[in-house]
Amino acid sequence: MKNIVLIGFMGVGKGSVAREIVKQSDLVALDTDDIIESMENRRIKKIFAEEGEEYFRSLERKVAQWLQKEVRGTLISTGGGFFKVPNLKKIGTVVYLSAPFETIHSRILEHPDAEKKLRKRPLFQDVDKAIKLYDDRSALYKKVADIIIDVSNKEISEIAKEILKKVK
Ligand code: S3P
Repeated sequence: MKNIVLIGFMGVGKGSVAREIVKQSDLVALDTDDIIESMENRRIKKIFAEEGEEYFRSLERKVAQWLQKEVRGTLISTGGGFFKVPNLKKIGTVVYLSAPFETIHSRILEHPDAEKKLRKRPLFQDVDKAIKLYDDRSALYKKVADIIIDVSNKEISEIAKEILKKVK
C-alpha cells in the first residue's frame, strides 16, 4: 500500500487527524516534525532560532528522501511547509486538509493550550504574516494534492473516515 501524506497549514489539525486515522485503522503514523526534532534533539522553535529556516528546510528534504526510499504503507503527517519538498508526490498519496484561515486561527485560540500551540510555531508569531503565508500557500497546496478534504465544521472522526474511504 502507498503511504498517505497529510499536508496543510499550521494548526489545521494534521496531527489530530493522523491520531484518529491510527485509531480507526491498522496504520502506523509518523510525523515529519517529530522525526526532525528527534534527529536534532531540539525543538523546531530552537532549530529555527539557532540555525534559521533554510537549515530546517534542508532537514525536511532529507527526511523526504528517506521516506521515499524506505517507508511504505504508513500514514505520514507533515509540517505546514513540508509540501515544498521536490519529491513529495513520490512519497505517497497526498491529502490536503483545507480550512479557511479564520477557522484555523480560532481553532488554535480556543484550544486549552493555545499559548503553547502558538509559541512553538515560529511562522505563526505574527498573525498578519501568517495570513500572508496562508494566502501564498493555499493554491500551491491544492496543486500538489491528490485528494482535498475540507475539514471545516467536521468532527475529527468524520474527517478520518472520509480519508480512509478515499485512499482505498
Ligand atoms: C511550518 C509548520 C510547522 C513546522 C515549522 C514550519 C510551516 O508545522 O514544520 O514550524 O512552514 O508551515 P505545523 O504545520 O505542524 O505547525
